[in-house]
Amino acid sequence: MFDLEAFDIKLNTEYIGRNFIYSDEIDSTNSFLLNKGNKSNNNGTVILAEKQNKGKGRKDRVWYSAKGQNLTFSILLTDKNLLKDKYNIINFAASLSVSQAIENLYQLKTELKWPNDVLVNGKKIAGILLEASSSGNKMERLVIGIGLNVNQALFQGAFNIEPTSIKVELNQSAERERMLAEILNIFEENLEQVEERPEEILKDWKLRCRMIGEKISITDGENTKYGIFDDIDENGFLMLKNRNRIEKIHFGDVSLG
Ligand code: BTN
Repeated sequence: MFDLEAFDIKLNTEYIGRNFIYSDEIDSTNSFLLNKGNKSNNNGTVILAEKQNKGKGRKDRVWYSAKGQNLTFSILLTDKNLLKDKYNIINFAASLSVSQAIENLYQLKTELKWPNDVLVNGKKIAGILLEASSSGNKMERLVIGIGLNVNQALFQGAFNIEPTSIKVELNQSAERERMLAEILNIFEENLEQVEERPEEILKDWKLRCRMIGEKISITDGENTKYGIFDDIDENGFLMLKNRNRIEKIHFGDVSLG
């Protein structure tokens, strides 16, 4: 059981998570917040679910998470300034926040994998899915969905990248309430940077991305491209170098080699 009081004591934010919804079971926390009809429209609303029946991953994959053991939650942003043109940098700010929170609380060394996976010892500990809804050509709601494996010890099934959790890496359970509050506290600070100094977010993100400079392959559906991971541009696109040509990549799963 998630202890709302313990979470609240640790939450230091001004608006992120101040409207907090706790759900025992739901289809998907992202789908919930994307839907205007749910009436939870405050900027910074957070919904946490103990179990998702249709948890969504990137590229139409399914996000599996054992009930009550991990953190599966979504954050709603409706602030017009942020939604105008900051989608990609918010994406980086989200994975950076998860990585910083894990390092602060548990001193586990994390790595960030483009576009937004968080890894520990080469295994995936968290995944992030951004989704948006628009009216006309204006983005109205941006939902940042985060799945972080906290206390799950066994993972069954076929995975793109081998999964892990804080418990597996530390050999002891972690406190979900403290972890969630830490992520939200850091995310709110990082969002301030998104507006004021987005280049700092990108810089900190790149420091944690160990694939830059390496030979990689990028797969998108049937399509695989090879080259050197040259850099990430100011818009968040991966720059793939092949001979002396640079190609900007918008989507894909990156692997070494
Ligand atoms: C990925 O790595 O493929 C992204 C996974 C994102 C999972 C989270 S769990 C909370 C939120 N609700 C969802 O349906 N998906 C995201």
